Amino acid sequence: MQKISVVLAVLILLSIGCQSEKKEKETIQIGTKKGESTPFEIGKKIFDGKGKCYTCHKIDKKSIGPGVTEIVKIYKEKDADLIAFLKQKADPIVDPETYVVMKTNFAIIKNFSEEELKALEIYMNEVSTSKTK
Ligand code: HEC
Repeated sequence: MQKISVVLAVLILLSIGCQSEKKEKETIQIGTKKGESTPFEIGKKIFDGKGKCYTCHKIDKKSIGPGVTEIVKIYKEKDADLIAFLKQKADPIVDPETYVVMKTNFAIIKNFSEEELKALEIYMNEVSTSKTK
């Protein structure tokens, strides 16, 4: 009887040892995956890609929609929340008269995750400060 419990104890110890080894390897893998792209890069990718923002928003001039620099400037002045606007929780403040045009794009925007919206905001902020300097 005693022998069996010793064997059991050894087995349990062994399996615990193996598990912690596995865990270490996993965390290392996650570590290398991160840092692949910055929020700025993710934001740019969405803005120029699947978000289709670039078709209506150029960076520093007006096209179909106001330029990003213009939008960011007004949002800073009024201390407004860009993400709330993108979630349709805040009213337009830049050019409410043409809001219907922007509205057509919410069909795409409403599928974006919190992280993607945040990345868009970071991209728009950074890209416009680098242009005005
Ligand atoms: C079909 C053209 C079109 C597309 C595509 C588009 N926009 Fe717009 N956007 C507009 C127009 C027009 C306005 C001006 C009306 C307004 O202020 O809401 C605008 C305004 C905005 C504003 C200012 C809102 C305010 O407070 O007035 C933000 C922020 C914005 N767009 C972000 C985006 C982002 C981010 C994308 C891509 C995910 C995008 N837009 C795609 C046309 C578009």
